[in-house]
Amino acid sequence: MSLIQVTGAAKRYAVASGEVAALDPVSLTVNEGEFVSILGPSGCGKSTFMLMLAGLISRSAGTIEIDGVKVDRPYTDLGIVFQDHNLLEWRNVLSNVMLQIEVRGRDPAQYLPRAQDLLRMVGLDGAEARLPHELSGGMRQRAAICRALIHEPRLLLMDEPFGALDALSRDQLNVDLQQMWLARPTTVIFITHSISEAVFLSDRVIMMTPRPGKIAADIKIDLPRPRPMSVRETPAFGAYTKQIRGLFEEWGVLRRGAA
Ligand SMILES: Nc1ncnc2c1ncn2[C@@H]1O[C@H](COP(=O)(O)OP(=O)(O)O)[C@@H](O)[C@H]1O
Ligand SMILES: [Mg+2]
Repeated sequence: MSLIQVTGAAKRYAVASGEVAALDPVSLTVNEGEFVSILGPSGCGKSTFMLMLAGLISRSAGTIEIDGVKVDRPYTDLGIVFQDHNLLEWRNVLSNVMLQIEVRGRDPAQYLPRAQDLLRMVGLDGAEARLPHELSGGMRQRAAICRALIHEPRLLLMDEPFGALDALSRDQLNVDLQQMWLARPTTVIFITHSISEAVFLSDRVIMMTPRPGKIAADIKIDLPRPRPMSVRETPAFGAYTKQIRGLFEEWGVLRRGAA
């Protein structure tokens, strides 16, 4: 069953000198429970696309429907994780996660077990009382993911959530995220410019061209789950990354010979 239906959605930003075409018309259908990555170079309009999906910025053209309802105001049945964790520095881990429940006016007592469950799943049990500055970058992003999932949203949007992490933390977070998603499947739109991260995590990789971005490839990733980190050394995984690098080379994102 499809959850998201994007038809010819485009964005031009008004700037002092006129207009910036950030995103050419894109059309996309995402099924309920799918893990979809949007992969493209910096500035191609990935964040723009995500903000339009969430109804946080207007479209210049086209339509977006989630669950059959046209998005023309902020869509609220969602969680968002950005590159910056956006945790409140004066709240501890648990109360940062519970913030989502408070602002939505839900009953904290009812969600406390779920918060503890999520924190355990990402290895943050025992760290509930710590403040953000007492955590590593990877731990902060884990807490941010728990906060985005505590209210069991229909849709999880992630905009380069691991972009600021060191390579090893990033690998671990990829595995943890997959595990959380397998335990509690929800629809995920995951924005990244890492080819291997996109292939590792996704059911489908949507590839975008340089700005003004448009969707130029939609690649189904047919690898069994759960995927261990070592899946990245398999020929099947290598075939996907090679295909993707080849397309980026064709589009001038990577220099000839890079693929
Ligand atoms: N609020 C804005 N006003 C004007 N231009 C913008 C604005 N936000 C983004 N842009 C421009 O739109 C293009 C796409 O930006 P963005 O969606 O952030 O790309 P990405 O997330 O893929 O790096 C870029 O050229 C960027 O400079
Ligand atoms: Mg961006």
